[in-house]
Amino acid sequence: MLVKNAKFFLDGKMTEKDILMEGGRIKSLGHFPGNGMDASGYLVLPGLIDAHVHLRDPGATQKEDFRSGTRAAIAGGITTVLDMPNNNPPTTTLARLEEKRAIASRKAVCDYGFHFGAGTNNFGEIERARPGSLKVYMGKTTGDLFLPDDRLVFLHFQNFPKKKPIVVHAEDQTIIDTEGRTPLAARAAAAKAAMLAEKAGRTICIAHASTAREMELAKRWKKSFVETCPHYLFLNEEKVKRLGNFSRVNPPVRSERERRKMWAALGMVDYVSTDHAPHLPEEKEKGAAGFPGLETSLALMLDAYNKRQIGMEWILSRMCENPARIFNIKGKGKIAPGFQADLVFVDLRKEWKVRAERMQGKCGWTPYEGMALKGKAEKVIFRGELVFEGDAITGKSGIGKEVMA
Ligand code: DOR
Ligand code: ZN
Repeated sequence: MLVKNAKFFLDGKMTEKDILMEGGRIKSLGHFPGNGMDASGYLVLPGLIDAHVHLRDPGATQKEDFRSGTRAAIAGGITTVLDMPNNNPPTTTLARLEEKRAIASRKAVCDYGFHFGAGTNNFGEIERARPGSLKVYMGKTTGDLFLPDDRLVFLHFQNFPKKKPIVVHAEDQTIIDTEGRTPLAARAAAAKAAMLAEKAGRTICIAHASTAREMELAKRWKKSFVETCPHYLFLNEEKVKRLGNFSRVNPPVRSERERRKMWAALGMVDYVSTDHAPHLPEEKEKGAAGFPGLETSLALMLDAYNKRQIGMEWILSRMCENPARIFNIKGKGKIAPGFQADLVFVDLRKEWKVRAERMQGKCGWTPYEGMALKGKAEKVIFRGELVFEGDAITGKSGIGKEVMA
């Protein structure tokens, strides 16, 4: 398969070349004879990697499953998702990881990997399962995964292979219990996690940083990567107040002042994930925390790019290259010979309105409903095959494969 006249970034410079693909990989870049898919008018990005999603399968497939969730990913220009372990029951044993593997291999339409849950007493299971990544919860949230004791956090930091990533939900439970999910709860846990990581001699990832101060504290110890999510960059307390019960997310969306500080500190962000955490409207009404995000994340960034708020290099590094590097995902995150042929055709001039009813995900609502955006993923090639065009997903269930294994 051949893509003609593709505009894309090569070694940091915008270039225009044909992309020749073979066996699901990029074979070479250049100018080739013959017909192909014409990419004129689009910017071509490598498939995005979303390192933090909750696909709810098994356990809560009314909210999402591996098919609906990976279809939502593809529609958003994301070709690799890393699924979180806070299922019911949590992914804390080899048997449960294998069960998830079997489900994903039947249903996924994009590539996927799994974060394994750090439990109070599952060190043996971790050793047997040899997962590609571990998730540590320092505060309570959806599901039962939570380490009630810093010694357990430290033990996991010491125990888990140092070359593999550990992702930390950094909200301090003692502070949550006394004053709620404040910025202090987040920065206290982030600082503590970063210190313990350095003491254990390992790197960690601070998930969903919601304040600049927390990023700064985490970065003071040299071993921490920082993740943030679109809702901390594009929403504030004022805006989500209108959502009523639908506004809940852990950590919460912050004040406009905090949001602005996040923008001023974008250099400290290592990667952007969605923390796609879908719940049905009736579950939100009852207080469930979490936002869906797979189908809006890239578009929000493209809109910001169009407004000259961020550069395309920032988007490419934080949503493609860095997550591939940090999570040891081979052959992804770049358009280069030998890399997987996952390509997103972006129309930077497309003006559109976010509508939940047009989405692939199951939850049926979005915190960005009605927002006017400029820029959108219009086509997606996955492993060398066209799997998304306009609004139609043609990729078959089961074409996704496991990464980070
Ligand atoms: O808002 C959230 N929802 N925060 C989390 O940490 C978990 C997530 C979920 O799984 O619903
Ligand atoms: Zn999450």
